Amino acid sequence: MTVCARCGTENPDQAKFCQECGAPLSPQQATSEERKLVTVLFADVAGSTQLGDRLDAEALKDVMSRFFAAMRAEIEAEGGTVEKFIGDAVMAAFGVPVAHEDDPDRALRAALRIQRRLPVLNRELAADHGVELAVRIGVNTGQVMATTAPRPGEAMATGDPVNLAARLQQMADPGAVLVGERTAAAARGFALEPFDQRLEVRGKDAPVVAHLLVGERDEPHRGIPGLRAPLVGRDAELELLGSLLRRVADERRAHLMTIYGEPGVGKSRLIAEFTATVEARVVRGRCLPYGDGITFWPLAEIAKSELGVLDTDDAATALAKVRVLGDAAPAIAHTIGLDDPASPMQELSPRAVIAEIHRAWLGFFARMAEEGPVIAVVEDIHWADGAMLDLLESLPDRLPAPVLFVCPSRPELTARRPGWAGGRRSASSLALDPLGAAEAERMVRLLLDIDDLGEGLRERILERAEGNPFFLEEIVRRLIDEDLISQQDGRWRAVAGIDDVVIPDTVQGVLAARIDLLPPAEKRVVQSAAVVGRVFWPGAVAGLLNGEAENVESLLDGLEQRDLVLTRLTSAMAGERELIFKHILTRDVHTRACRGATGRRPTRRSPSGSSGCSASGGWRSPSCSPTTTTSPGGAPSPTATAWTPPAAISAGWRSTRR
Ligand SMILES: Nc1ncnc2c1ncn2[C@@H]1O[C@H](COP(=O)(O)OP(=O)(O)O)[C@@H](O)[C@H]1O
Ligand SMILES: [Mg+2]
Repeated sequence: MTVCARCGTENPDQAKFCQECGAPLSPQQATSEERKLVTVLFADVAGSTQLGDRLDAEALKDVMSRFFAAMRAEIEAEGGTVEKFIGDAVMAAFGVPVAHEDDPDRALRAALRIQRRLPVLNRELAADHGVELAVRIGVNTGQVMATTAPRPGEAMATGDPVNLAARLQQMADPGAVLVGERTAAAARGFALEPFDQRLEVRGKDAPVVAHLLVGERDEPHRGIPGLRAPLVGRDAELELLGSLLRRVADERRAHLMTIYGEPGVGKSRLIAEFTATVEARVVRGRCLPYGDGITFWPLAEIAKSELGVLDTDDAATALAKVRVLGDAAPAIAHTIGLDDPASPMQELSPRAVIAEIHRAWLGFFARMAEEGPVIAVVEDIHWADGAMLDLLESLPDRLPAPVLFVCPSRPELTARRPGWAGGRRSASSLALDPLGAAEAERMVRLLLDIDDLGEGLRERILERAEGNPFFLEEIVRRLIDEDLISQQDGRWRAVAGIDDVVIPDTVQGVLAARIDLLPPAEKRVVQSAAVVGRVFWPGAVAGLLNGEAENVESLLDGLEQRDLVLTRLTSAMAGERELIFKHILTRDVHTRACRGATGRRPTRRSPSGSSGCSASGGWRSPSCSPTTTTSPGGAPSPTATAWTPPAAISAGWRSTRR
């Protein structure tokens, strides 16, 4: 089995390309060590010794294998990797082999899923064996040494944070979930309570702070609770979108607008502000991160909300709601992942299925726009499946109806689909840049409304955020969470002498997830370039790669196309191109990863003295010694799906999570 380094999918040994995302699978990628921000979950059966006394060996084996299978299903449903089964405990990692932007959230959702699954499992176990299980769970986030694709016998994640997660699990009462401080700080949308027992941990001077997970709560996944800056800047973009919509309405011709921008730059916010002020019907769907979605997921979301199909509907009820569409019903039902044995779609070839889907969606949007202009927002199309992109790209030219498709995307879409919407009469694009210095400064003032923040701190916040509103909000949020800035008598004050602001894990997660999605060779180039410095040269990068990447130059072109690095106009190295990381943060996050990975220093120093290796010592701290090293477990992985989707759609029916 080869694990894809881009999306984490397990592929058969002989596969040359990933069956999920199409990335090349190179045998050399098999093992590489990296320092990574990972969230670890331990789940352990409480009182298992008594269980052993009550059951004979065969029955115990059956109980445990059903327990492990259930745990694995719940963990994998949230994108976690089951690292191993140790005795009666399950250890899972979120962020290995591939980082997600929201690994702490995923781990906590998995813990809640486990809690919900347990009563179901217990009913079965009580009926078959007369026993019930109680589980303690510990979750913790931190920098670990991660092995992307471990060989048998090799651990996937080792280090202090792993040990602490295990400790939290031991301290938890049966049925409870104990959460480490870093996970609690980075997670969004969960109800957590302080855990009042002192947690002494060997090797740590201060007692460890932990939280009890009590459930989920409604919370926007971006922004600072209680603080929201009004939209800063973006006047020109709003005007452009407004005039585009007027044209679409006047000419009754559809149009596709792609809004490119890095994560957090404000694509969704711009669209939210735009759609809030215009007179048009707005429908929305979003693409889910790699490996999470079904092919036409965003359209499925749109169809479900328009037709009133609920996630809780059973298949028959849902199908009845779709049938109002008449002829188009089978294709729309198919898009949603509704399985209808009587559907004429079952008889068609894959190509004919696609043609039917295109025809049905043309009709669907045309009908929706009969009463007035429609704005269809399809979020985050850089994650869209190829077939979804084909459909989006071809619809506008063929749709004589006032529908404006607005599709935010990260720049990497153009690396996956170089000619995206190119040459189409009814397509255009807009690039959203980070906020300028004055705008970013205004945003900080709007958020914090203080003059005595201290020039030094203000500057550091602005410098770290680099004009990215999400980074800016997260940095401020973290300062507030840590009581470094606080509100007194209605005014914000900062603790004196803060001389640096750390990169919050939430920001780090976004940056790491972006790099993890790169093809392996490009990722290695990023990591090596990060060691050289914010400014680097192809020769120095190639030197670090042991000549492994002869085509460093072309890989760097790829990274430039993805908007991660820029070629500078002049170079300090004669005859060599000079490049710069577009964001200091991208480089910072990956210097750490890389030091763990190569353990090497750059061969050439930056003439400007900005070399990344000025910090002393490696990153492999002595505390990173492995505690346990067993191979990943191999229990079966049943999945619980409400409806089985048609074969043409690659993954199962999923209910909307947020
Ligand atoms: N121009 C802006 N003015 C004020 N806040 C902004 C602006 N752009 C984005 N934000 C805030 O920054 C965060 C990230 O923006 P978002 O639209 O989610 O980014 P993206 O969709 O590009 O990843 C959100 O909380 C959003 O409200
Ligand atoms: Mg967005």
